[in-house]
Amino acid sequence: MGAYQDFHQRSLKQRDAFWNEQAALIDWHQPHTQVCDFSRPPFAQWFVGGQTNLCYNAIDRHLVTRGDQKALIYISTETGQEKTYTYRELYKEVNRAAGMLHTLGVVKGDRVLIYMPMIAEAVFVMLACARVGAIHSVVFGGFAAASLATRIDDAKPALMITADAGMRGGRAIAYKPLVDEALRLAQHPPRNVIVVNRGIDKDYTPVVGRDLDYATLRKSHAEVNTPVTWLESSEPSYILYTSGTTGKPKGIQRDTGGYAVALAASMKHIYCGNAGETMFTTSDIGWVVGHSYIVYAPLIAGMTTILYEGLPIRPDAGIWWKIVADHKVSVMFSSPTAARVLKKQDPAYLTKYDLSSLRHLFLAGEPLDEPTHQWISDALQKPVIDHYWQTETGWPILSAVHGVEKTPLKMGTPSFPVYGYDLQILRESDASEAAADEKGVVAIMPPLPPGCMSTVWGDDERFVKTYFTSFRSKQVYATFDWGIRDKDGYHYILGRTDDVINVAGHRLGTREIEEAVQSHANIAEVAVVGVADAIKGQIPIAFAVVKDSSQIATREQQAAHEKEVMDAVDKQLGAIGRPARVHFVNLLPKTRSGKLLRRSIQALAEGRDPGDLTTIEDPAALEQIKVALAGG
Ligand code: PRX
Repeated sequence: MGAYQDFHQRSLKQRDAFWNEQAALIDWHQPHTQVCDFSRPPFAQWFVGGQTNLCYNAIDRHLVTRGDQKALIYISTETGQEKTYTYRELYKEVNRAAGMLHTLGVVKGDRVLIYMPMIAEAVFVMLACARVGAIHSVVFGGFAAASLATRIDDAKPALMITADAGMRGGRAIAYKPLVDEALRLAQHPPRNVIVVNRGIDKDYTPVVGRDLDYATLRKSHAEVNTPVTWLESSEPSYILYTSGTTGKPKGIQRDTGGYAVALAASMKHIYCGNAGETMFTTSDIGWVVGHSYIVYAPLIAGMTTILYEGLPIRPDAGIWWKIVADHKVSVMFSSPTAARVLKKQDPAYLTKYDLSSLRHLFLAGEPLDEPTHQWISDALQKPVIDHYWQTETGWPILSAVHGVEKTPLKMGTPSFPVYGYDLQILRESDASEAAADEKGVVAIMPPLPPGCMSTVWGDDERFVKTYFTSFRSKQVYATFDWGIRDKDGYHYILGRTDDVINVAGHRLGTREIEEAVQSHANIAEVAVVGVADAIKGQIPIAFAVVKDSSQIATREQQAAHEKEVMDAVDKQLGAIGRPARVHFVNLLPKTRSGKLLRRSIQALAEGRDPGDLTTIEDPAALEQIKVALAGG
């Protein structure tokens, strides 16, 4: 693997020259004067002095060469709708939406909170924010009112944009009542909410004076052209909240120029997606994969992007492959959970459609087990590339980089550090580099490359403290993942070092779920752990101590209480965080200093040895966990 190794080395050793070349992949209004300013570590600024705009790069610059090419294909198997927008049509829609933002007083630097299902308008408004220099904060539609309120209060948006409802598996899910509730709970509610009324929620009622109808505004801005607001490269493009060790989600702040360059370069070198071709990413716009690889990267690359609202197995398990065949998809991006779901279905679906256009399938978001990697590679007869990254980085950290060299793929590994990343596996004890095949913490030597988070929104100190203080002797970025590098240089990710769990590719903090469980009035204490699951990767399981045990005296009462706790989580956090089981115990295993022994609980729940228990306060607590797990 000489060519790729050289490429990677060059990206680190001749950093400025390397990224200078990559910067030419996008259009700049003003060229940069400095490639990287790392004078205030660990903060890095990329393409200093350069001025650009994400929306301009995603749309405007393609108008002359590909104005009539499809830019966005919206497919909903929930409503049966399918709609195509050419680059010119997308330009018009985004200009209209940007005009609405202007009319409502949104200016550069204002935050706009987007809480929307997978509909084309969600893409329009994200790009419209980018166009006018507003900072969007998209919140995944699965989050409940209280979670939404926390994010509103942190981002303090000038405007919110939502829809009456989403749909999942044929069922309507009302969005607007959740927004109403969140705005009641929030300390910093915005003046207005734009609502896309899809006509799904028959009970939809706008709040007079606050809620504005998207279609009406669109009509009054039909012919509006909204000029691009040029941003200095380091100015923020968006905030995306993600879970960590504490109950309070962090607003990952992304820059503009570095992100655009990183995405453009990744399309060329990693995803091998060419202008005029089609990309299909099956994520949701509420996650980082949706931001980067449904919306921005494919459009920056001049590709057609597919926005799919629906399940992978409805109307049947062939739907994704039908989309690939119908739209001649050449690059596809999905998740290991989706692959495991498809593995359970009739394999005939994978051979029913003409997949000749498909070059690669990329999978990310959670560990891809070797058997699933092997199965889907064999079934598709295409390279399936496992690649590893985070909300924080915005684009891949570990991957095969087939645009540079077709290195052989090994099953169960996301291959090698991507160019730009000086990745090391460090021993937890002293931050020294682990040997081949030795487990350590996956760390990145700063500066983080372009496109990665610039800080935590509104909290520089939290950025430094959270990510750069894991090791006393070295200021390095900790991914909070365990990893191993084998003797051939392939990397394996072995799960998180912190209390973050990954449920079907959705990243959740166990602390967040614990707080949601505690919103139930009868819960005194709780421990939530992620337990291995054959389909979802991990599922949350809760062990709770009740205040009043007379309420759970009988098995029936216990079952009813368990359901109530689950409902409380749905209401507080959202159904994505709902524990698969809530076991009631009298005490929780803790150290003598009062720290929950989550890893021991998790080990027991997975049928493993609970490990070193010398610090446990009361061994009876572990016995209770065992009894609860055994159904006692
Ligand atoms: O633990 C790693 C896991 O997902 C985390 C990041 O999740 P999120 O911020 O939602 O970003 C997803 C972007 C694709 C990581 O810290 N993870 C992600 N990809 C992989 C993975 N674990 C193993 N293998 C992967 N390919």
